[in-house]
Amino acid sequence: MEIEGLKKELKKYLKEDRYKHSICVMEMSEKLANHYNVNKQKVMKAALMHDLAKELPFDELKKYIIKNSIYVSKIEMSVGVTLHGKVAADICRKKYGFDKEMCIAISNHTTGKPKMSMLEKIVFIADKIDETRKYEGIEELRKLAFKDIDEAILQNIDNTISNNMKKGRPILEESIKTRNYILINKNK
Ligand SMILES: [Fe+2]
Ligand SMILES: [Fe+2]
Repeated sequence: MEIEGLKKELKKYLKEDRYKHSICVMEMSEKLANHYNVNKQKVMKAALMHDLAKELPFDELKKYIIKNSIYVSKIEMSVGVTLHGKVAADICRKKYGFDKEMCIAISNHTTGKPKMSMLEKIVFIADKIDETRKYEGIEELRKLAFKDIDEAILQNIDNTISNNMKKGRPILEESIKTRNYILINKNK
């Protein structure tokens, strides 16, 4: 399905604000795809649809995951923040014919994962620096994403981990694995 058709589909799932975020993530991913020479159509579609399942209630996400035998770790299942990506990836594969790389990018957009492809990196970081987001340091992070995308991802994960620590929330292993992978492979 082409982007215009996907937009119409997405509108059925999301309220206005989140729909706008999705469009802005897609636009940011287009800029990054131009910069890093990645297949624009693929990355833009994955970026557009990454939060497709974000407004489904926790119970429904859980049910969907069990019914469709999607692998999710026990901790992720109870923390819940990553479930919408897993479900969105499954829907996009089955309903809209997204390929494996696009689905992996959607599935892991919340925490990242070790050994991400450039397309996956772009979807991950575009989600954190799109035009609808406002937080301290975002301008610097936006610039950094075009200079050194790994470093930008690393800084975003560091912020997420320290925010979760401050708020007494659990830290997902997937975030730690992504962080370690980038740190160990940096400057190699
Ligand atoms: Fe998300
Ligand atoms: Fe998002």
